[in-house]
Amino acid sequence: MNYLDRNEFNYAPSPEVLEALKNFDVNKLCFYTRIYDEGKKSILSVYLAERYGVDEAQVLLGYGGEDILKQAVHYFLTEADGNKTMLIPRFSWWYYKSIADEVNGRTLEYPLYEEGDTYRYDLDEMKRMVLCHQPKILLIASPNNPTGNGLTPDELSELLADIPATTTVVVDEAYASFVTADTTYIQRLVNQYPNLIISRTLSKFYGLPGLRMGFGFISKELGRFIKYSNKYLGYNRISEDLAIAALQADDYYRNVARQMNESRACYEQEIGRLEGFTVYKSVANFVLVKYPIALKPALQKAFAEQEYKVKFMNEPGIDTHLRITLGRPEQNRIVIDTIKNIAHT
Ligand SMILES: Cc1ncc(COP(=O)(O)O)c(C=O)c1O
Repeated sequence: MNYLDRNEFNYAPSPEVLEALKNFDVNKLCFYTRIYDEGKKSILSVYLAERYGVDEAQVLLGYGGEDILKQAVHYFLTEADGNKTMLIPRFSWWYYKSIADEVNGRTLEYPLYEEGDTYRYDLDEMKRMVLCHQPKILLIASPNNPTGNGLTPDELSELLADIPATTTVVVDEAYASFVTADTTYIQRLVNQYPNLIISRTLSKFYGLPGLRMGFGFISKELGRFIKYSNKYLGYNRISEDLAIAALQADDYYRNVARQMNESRACYEQEIGRLEGFTVYKSVANFVLVKYPIALKPALQKAFAEQEYKVKFMNEPGIDTHLRITLGRPEQNRIVIDTIKNIAHT
């Protein structure tokens, strides 16, 4: 089976990751890390602090981005002030609402506007909704799954300038490394604003969803949450080593991302011109495709026959859409040809 339904990695891990796994000293597993004695949480947070230019105390680690997001949502929506409201994008990862529901949170959706082959956030509308609803959390996904749009660092900064400190802004940047290698804005923003959490992951750009390793950056002022999040006895020591190896192999992963971009261009050129189809612009490891809904059964059958799994979206307003992970070029070719065959019959 070819899995192009969960934005996973259909390429091989970088040679550096394989090396790190081969060289891992298994005796390390017999002991907890001692880095805690130095007041640090992990060799990985130390590495990330240096690389991103922030204090180690401002680095969060989690069991994937999902864990960082869940920790933040559970923590802030259960604070003593009783404010259980979180704003999320209208079309977004289903998980945001689900983790709010787990603690009886209330999620409100802010709009995402479709304009031709893109979606966009409306900063003024987001600010207006924050002022009106005074949410405990404003969650922004950038780039957003499944619509592929995001905010630039300038837009994010402009938004943060108008958000009261009582609202924690959580930015899910799971796919952000596909947009740019420049991460300098992270240091700037977490030090400038008192209410910011940025969540990233090894699962997408660095292609290691099975590693279950996420990391984040946070304003110093949110110190109580930092304390809540930190693990006293440390983190998985194999994952720490492999994560550092992957983060040091940027060239390898940039090259994979370049190949994905070439495949995305094929989708745009070949599927985008089919009658009734739209291929949305995105900078991530997936494409969102609108298709004529009458073709759904035929498409489902054809993908099943080819042993390909792609994501047929079901959410209202975005239910005539397919989200397709960018795989290896030959896989992408099969998906494109499968869609073209159905569209032409
Ligand atoms: C928007 C978004 N955020 C976060 C994640 C979390 O991934 P992980 O927990 O593997 O880091 C995903 C995974 O699909 C995602 O789509």
